[in-house]
Amino acid sequence: MAGNRAVAYVGPRKLEIQNLDYPKLVDPRGKKCEHGVILKLVVTNICGSDQHIYRGRFPAPSGMILGHENTGEVVEVGRDVEFIKKGDLVSVPFNVSCGKCRNCRERHTEICMNANPDFPCAAYGFNLGGWQGGQAEYMMVPWADFALLKFPDKDQAMENILKLAYLSDILPTGYHGCVIAGVRTGSTVYIAGAGPVGRAAAASARLLGASAIIVGDLNKERLAVVKKAGYEIVDVSKPTPLADQIEAILGVREVDCGVDCVGFEAHGYGPGAGEDPSAVINGLFEVVRFGGGTGIPGIYTAGDSQARNEMEKQGRYPLDFGKAWIKSPSATGGQCPVLRYSRDLMEAILWGRLDHLVDVMNAQVVSLENALDAYKFFDQGSPKKYVVDPHNVTGKITPLAAAAAAR
Ligand SMILES: NC(=O)c1ccc[n+]([C@@H]2O[C@H](COP(=O)([O-])OP(=O)(O)OC[C@H]3O[C@@H](n4cnc5c(N)ncnc54)[C@H](O)[C@@H]3O)[C@@H](O)[C@H]2O)c1
Ligand SMILES: [Zn+2]
Ligand SMILES: [Zn+2]
Repeated sequence: MAGNRAVAYVGPRKLEIQNLDYPKLVDPRGKKCEHGVILKLVVTNICGSDQHIYRGRFPAPSGMILGHENTGEVVEVGRDVEFIKKGDLVSVPFNVSCGKCRNCRERHTEICMNANPDFPCAAYGFNLGGWQGGQAEYMMVPWADFALLKFPDKDQAMENILKLAYLSDILPTGYHGCVIAGVRTGSTVYIAGAGPVGRAAAASARLLGASAIIVGDLNKERLAVVKKAGYEIVDVSKPTPLADQIEAILGVREVDCGVDCVGFEAHGYGPGAGEDPSAVINGLFEVVRFGGGTGIPGIYTAGDSQARNEMEKQGRYPLDFGKAWIKSPSATGGQCPVLRYSRDLMEAILWGRLDHLVDVMNAQVVSLENALDAYKFFDQGSPKKYVVDPHNVTGKITPLAAAAAAR
């Protein structure tokens, strides 16, 4: 029987490829999962959320297998799986969800009550229920009939794989960020963060019909990718305040909707600003108009070992709420319930409505061996979205070192 090579988190900035046993249809607590399937990974992406773990800022046990952005082919099916078949090509939502609890039934698959015995929230490759990640050759997926999104045609799916690969997380997440911020036809939108989630949010805002879409970051290479793809940009490391930069683009100092695609590792504003976890939310309180909406897909957490002080270590941040309250603000955070959006976004991709995603995501496909270096480049702020192809099935792998040298 095949083994299973996988990317393991060993400690801060220390990953290794480990040789594991081929996965079994059992859950992390050893209970048989007849409702599950085994997948052969086709693509599995590296995410900013993995980076929080990689940097040692989101607690995770040593030996945990990373990877929650998974797309694969079903190679084994449990006894109780009725509709998913061997050979199906599927996208795996990063949320592990049972489909049976109150929250799953209310389309809140991000807070499933059964997938994690510690609290209602589970995901692959996180310290959230012990589910093994998919940056590997194979993985087990429970509750397969409910969870998996099957692509209707395998050849068509492989042709579009560098768009469909984002359905497991960042595309629904960026879209969700826009939806909870109230983005609709004609909205003006400010998206904080030009990482992969911010870039997916920009593409989502365009799909939703937003008018001006402004993306902010301090990373110039990432801003250049966003600008080239046709969006407005602001550089938050400039001395010019954020509202002034927005005014220079829109003629007014406020936007209709704001989306935080940064999270707790946020930098403050202006030249040489250090980290300030409340910078983005406070910035959005300021630049989102009276009555506007704010979406917060960026992760906030208690347990950041490198937080600046005890309060922030506990996930408690100084927010300008007293100043913002008069604006009737609405702000919604949390993980994205991927299944709420992924089918519709798949159809949008397959019908050519999201072709612009390719430019703005700026993907590079790498081998499993190169995944460890991809983590390093991504940590250094690379403008690429790294997509790992563990079995070399996309035909799109480029060696990482050569690509880095060419940069
Ligand atoms: N809610 C969810 O379901 C979900 C899903 C996926 C990712 N996430 C989270 O979304 C966030 C973004 O993910 P990513 O992969 O794009 O991460 P990333 O780290 O690659 O990108 C974050 C970007 O924010 C920039 N930034 C820092 N301070 C800023 C500021 N004040 N204003 C504007 N930009 C600033 C950084 O330079 C960086 O380019 C992370 O926190 C990630 O964990 C959440
Ligand atoms: Zn992710
Ligand atoms: Zn559930």
